[in-house]
Amino acid sequence: MLNTKTIEIIKSTVPVLEKHGKDITTHFYQMMFQNHPELLNIFNHANQRQGRQQTALANAVYAAAAHIDNLEAIIPVVKQIGQKHRALGILPEHYPIVGENLLKAIKDVLGDAATDDIINAWAEAYGVIADAFIGIEKEMYREAKEQPGGWEGFRKFIVDRKVKESDVITSFYLKPEDGNAIASYQAGQYLTVKVKPETDEYTHIRHYSLSDAPGKDYYRISVKREDHGVVSTYLHQEVSEGDVVLVSAPAGDFVLEAKTAPAVLISGGVGLTPMVSMLHTLLEQQPDREVLFVHGALNSQVHALKNEVARIVATHANVKNFVAYSNPTDTDRAAMNFDKEGFIELDWLQKIVATNQADFYFCGPVPFMKMMYRSLIEWGVPAGNIHFEFFGPASALTE
Ligand code: HEM
Repeated sequence: MLNTKTIEIIKSTVPVLEKHGKDITTHFYQMMFQNHPELLNIFNHANQRQGRQQTALANAVYAAAAHIDNLEAIIPVVKQIGQKHRALGILPEHYPIVGENLLKAIKDVLGDAATDDIINAWAEAYGVIADAFIGIEKEMYREAKEQPGGWEGFRKFIVDRKVKESDVITSFYLKPEDGNAIASYQAGQYLTVKVKPETDEYTHIRHYSLSDAPGKDYYRISVKREDHGVVSTYLHQEVSEGDVVLVSAPAGDFVLEAKTAPAVLISGGVGLTPMVSMLHTLLEQQPDREVLFVHGALNSQVHALKNEVARIVATHANVKNFVAYSNPTDTDRAAMNFDKEGFIELDWLQKIVATNQADFYFCGPVPFMKMMYRSLIEWGVPAGNIHFEFFGPASALTE
């Protein structure tokens, strides 16, 4: 337990570190990757380039430090980050590396202002925060391994089928190479894939939402080929049926709540993948619940899984499907295969959903997520009815 003086120092220096947050963490990452280049096998290089992870880690450490005398209060956040850490394979031995380099970065950036008292206090506080993460993640590793069909770390999966869903999205059906059972999951959770392109020095890890309902003998992920996306390009272009990819056990806390209010599943682009999984699952678990599936895409050429959703809508009176195309093709116009031209906007949502007491789930690209979040808040949707999956630091949503 930290003594009162240490707690006082931490709390009084949090704002100082926040002010220098970006400088400290940029310097921290540069040093850490220089001293431990092997960590470049774990960290997302694109996030590094965009400075996203820098801010996320810094903010999380300061937020934790601000609650250093009551870490219980931030356990839900630690659990959310822990899910990602567990899926990525972050281990207890990684924590001292981060701690050592972070402290050195604080010292370098603050210069004389970083007295021994301050540095020692932060060393102690980091130790307490790291222990909280390590403890929670240890439990997650145990659960991932001990659940039926579960496993530890990364397991080899064979690409059983590769199915083109649109011009830019392809589904991969993955079966374990060992032929044994696979862990179940909850709709909305993601799978974490590790690959090493032959021409690349490093392994690369990415999370992809599971797009089918649980309970099958395979996992399905539906991956969008991103411009300059190392892993998505590799999966689309280099990986064929019969090839092996490494996968860690399903993770994530974006899951359905068994409420009775209508469920509104809103997605932009490839963000529809967890929504399709949720749609299948809702029909299995709550077959009479009213479900609205609202999807926004550029046009039908990049609208993935549309036949799968259309089949469900055609056979279930309680499911309604709404499509917004921001740039419909001439064929789309002739076929009138969409409900709105433009983006998913609040006034349209208000018309099709009718009540702000519905239960809202959404996933999509960053600008879409920001817009949805603001719109639902503006509409007065209760916070407990707003659920989202955000790939990348969730803090970017409210910035
Ligand atoms: C992701 C915090 C320790 C590796 C994250 C995120 C946060 C965070 C907030 C973003 C989560 C999201 O995507 O929503 C922390 C804190 C730590 C810590 C507070 C220490 C107490 C570590 C350690 C490692 C690590 C020891 C490994 C050396 C990663 C990686 C990601 C991540 C690889 C994924 C994002 C990316 O690749 O850019 N962490 N982390 N973290 N963390 Fe940590």
